[in-house]
Amino acid sequence: TTIFVLNGPNLNLLGTREPEIYGRDTLADIDASLAARAAELGVAVDCRQSNHEGDLVDWLHEARATGAKAVLLNAGAYTHTSVALHDAIKAIQLPVIEVHLSNPHTREEFRHKSYIGMAAKGTIAGFGAKSYLIALDAALIV
Ligand code: DQA
Repeated sequence: TTIFVLNGPNLNLLGTREPEIYGRDTLADIDASLAARAAELGVAVDCRQSNHEGDLVDWLHEARATGAKAVLLNAGAYTHTSVALHDAIKAIQLPVIEVHLSNPHTREEFRHKSYIGMAAKGTIAGFGAKSYLIALDAALIV
């Protein structure tokens, strides 16, 4: 069983990017914690990051084509803009769990709308790096 973990723009800068909002863990730290938890759970994670919207669309298609069980998706700022990602989630008919380190609803107005959340199975947001681990647990109960 494989779970795809897809990260969008600027998340490669975690650790140094606005640490008061996003914390000091790097994406490599998060990927390592996910791999460790996945091993405990007897599943595999395939963790990827891109700053390009189309890569995320392609990887959602790949999750479906390769028989992944679910997808954890932190689309970064594309969360608030991307009809293409919304449509891809609808198209692949896999459980996609929206993940955010911060809680966008407590932040600027432009972060309150989520094109991902409107298509996702559910959302985990606001728990920092732990959001991903909670989402991994959630992926295994859907
Ligand atoms: C984010 C929240 C988004 O609003 C923002 O654009 C990000 C990170 C989060 O994980 O909290 O890049 O997705």
